[in-house]
Amino acid sequence: MFEALTPVSEMLARNLDVLTQQPLLVCGLLEDNLPGMLAQAGPAPRIFTTDFRYFQWQEQQGNSQIEFGVQPTQGAPGLLLLMPKAKAEAEYLLAACLPLLAEGAQLFMAGDNKGGVKSAPKLLAPYADQVNKLDSARRASLYQAELVRPAAPFKLASWVKGYSLELEKAQAPLQICTLPGVFSAGHLDSGSRLLLDNLGNLKGRVLDFGCGAGVIGANLLKRQPELELECIDISALALEATRLTLAENQLNANVYASDGLSQVNGTFNHIVANPPFHAGLKTFFHTTEALLSSAKNYLVHGGSLTLVANAFLPYPELIEKSFGHCETIAVNGKFKIYRAVRRS
Ligand SMILES: C[S@@+](CC[C@H](N)C(=O)[O-])C[C@H]1O[C@@H](n2cnc3c(N)ncnc32)[C@H](O)[C@@H]1O
Repeated sequence: MFEALTPVSEMLARNLDVLTQQPLLVCGLLEDNLPGMLAQAGPAPRIFTTDFRYFQWQEQQGNSQIEFGVQPTQGAPGLLLLMPKAKAEAEYLLAACLPLLAEGAQLFMAGDNKGGVKSAPKLLAPYADQVNKLDSARRASLYQAELVRPAAPFKLASWVKGYSLELEKAQAPLQICTLPGVFSAGHLDSGSRLLLDNLGNLKGRVLDFGCGAGVIGANLLKRQPELELECIDISALALEATRLTLAENQLNANVYASDGLSQVNGTFNHIVANPPFHAGLKTFFHTTEALLSSAKNYLVHGGSLTLVANAFLPYPELIEKSFGHCETIAVNGKFKIYRAVRRS
């Protein structure tokens, strides 16, 4: 899945002489075996990732120099940041990694020209006096700088943002905590809203699949504190946001990393999801496709899967194929809510 080198790594392959002069801490948008390429040409890099799928894949490759979480605990003589999708996430990663590097460390930033890498000079300005563009090819660019101003100790709390979510009846609003790059920072997504409005009364063990900032799970627990809730996500930042959201509202759930249902055990009375969707991103479609085909095995007899999806996605056929039926229980302009019950 991560076998082919991305155009960014192909461009980095032309710069191995500078990149391998010191062991690097590599982080950001890791989508291939760039760490393997670096290790072949020079000292093995350390990897820090917030993506559980990438973490598992590197571990399967036998690479133990990898950390998964919200911040790395070990630095290296240099840093290579692969520009993540959100600029705020790049700022976050620099703030989390740079306190682990010594003054004078080499800093590299690389990424697709359309993915915001051109903001490297601005992003590195708080830490460096001069930012040089070393290369630009295959629609990707590489920037270099030297750490001249040591970074302040990293404080996760200063990256947490939040918003209040009004609830029905006379309940106090829910406080939702988010971190950079976590879905629906700042407001409740309209698909998630439609899902919440159509979940009805649940019971027993419930799985919040792809929990994001924990907005679905926190709503469910607030309505029905007796539920036994599990929240899973592939992103360490989403999982941390969910933990913070639950704590902020004095709610409890089992929150853990899982790529799809891979780390989930046992069966549930309900699985609820606003699954990942991004036009053109195959991995996201595969995640949802895999959920739809295997969810049944993770449900008790009579248990239900309820999900919200963009109305044009071909999910009803996939649900029918697995469950033998698929009900559309709500529709608005953009989204549909599908439900299926395990009958066999
Ligand atoms: C559309 S967001 C929904 C977030 C949250 N439930 C809400 O309604 O605001 C989808 C979530 O799925 C997560 N995700 C993406 N791929 C995943 C995978 N393979 N396994 C588990 N979660 C995944 C994303 O990190 C993201 O938080």
